[in-house]
Amino acid sequence: MKAKASRVRERVIDAKTRTRFTRPLLQWYDASGRDLPWRAEVTPYAIWVSEIMLQQTQVATVRPYYDRFLKVFPTIADLAAADLEKVLKLWQGLGYYARARHLHRAALEVVARFSGNLPDTFEALMSLPGIGRSTAGAILTIAFKKRYPILDGNVRRVLCRFFAVSQDPREKSVDAWLWLCSEKLMPTKRLSGIYLQAIMDLGATVCSPKHPDCLSCPVEKHCEARALGLQGELPMREKRKKVPHYDYFAGLLVCGDSVLIHRRPLKGLLAGLWEFPGMRLEDALVKESIMPQFEAFFKNEINQSPKDAQLFMTIRHVFTHFKMTLYVFSARIAGDVPVHLPLKWVRRDRLSNYAFSTAHQKIVSGLSGLDDCPRLF
Ligand code: ADE
Repeated sequence: MKAKASRVRERVIDAKTRTRFTRPLLQWYDASGRDLPWRAEVTPYAIWVSEIMLQQTQVATVRPYYDRFLKVFPTIADLAAADLEKVLKLWQGLGYYARARHLHRAALEVVARFSGNLPDTFEALMSLPGIGRSTAGAILTIAFKKRYPILDGNVRRVLCRFFAVSQDPREKSVDAWLWLCSEKLMPTKRLSGIYLQAIMDLGATVCSPKHPDCLSCPVEKHCEARALGLQGELPMREKRKKVPHYDYFAGLLVCGDSVLIHRRPLKGLLAGLWEFPGMRLEDALVKESIMPQFEAFFKNEINQSPKDAQLFMTIRHVFTHFKMTLYVFSARIAGDVPVHLPLKWVRRDRLSNYAFSTAHQKIVSGLSGLDDCPRLF
């Protein structure tokens, strides 16, 4: 990092700085802000849903999910009364499924503890699953017209650039300063909701991570990173660790017109989602040893050896912490094999009722493209 960027501890956000930042930002938002469904007159519940869906997910991805979700669950009571399975099914493809499980659990708590009304205090919101400081701030400010700061990825980036913060924003003291700064920059209560939407839009559309469009930026004139030519380098990034790669196999086991599926445990990665049964292959695997492992796995799981196993498709998928190659083998099971949860035989035309992870949904889609495959059905 070049020298001149600032160290935060000595920085004080005074009224002049606030005006320099807030006034042009609000003017820009008035002219160029995005027209988004959760910005119409909607309920606190709808804003809550939008804020949860928008965590680590872009607006364009969220929009159709948001519309569908509120159509199916128009109130907190509707969400609380639903099966988790149905909630996960609606969330399928949006990723970070813990959000859906937390939202559902929180709805149950809101019904039990707050008569079905989303509470309007910081403490009560923070006591609900899935709501952290920034989400609570957004809900209180946007839905309840209070004045609470937020610090999501977009806001952090905007502030680190505007004040040319050279330190690591994940460092505790820097994070604390950024929260303080976020609070100090907020205008009066009346404008706070609009202000939050404005700074989030700025981060998402202009002050973007890789290619900030400084020429379109309303606060460019006073942006310290821009003055130093550091806008591409700030905020300081975490050094990228090399992402490991693992091989998996899954079995598309067919018996008559049914296929075997497996529900993942309710804790951990992709909790509660359905998949085709399988496992991770050994590290130094040679391709020839997949089939014996495949057969041994199902012998152990359902006490039957699958017949006519062959490669059905290969799927590559990138998770946050690892990359996966998934070898999917189709095979037949002769005769009835009773199974217990988490395993389940499901008719092929009913698969769409189950929530699958993105990788395994590709297998479902691959199957539906087959129509009547004599080899399999
Ligand atoms: N990201 C998080 N909350 C948002 C909102 N309300 N509008 C746009 N992007 C967001």
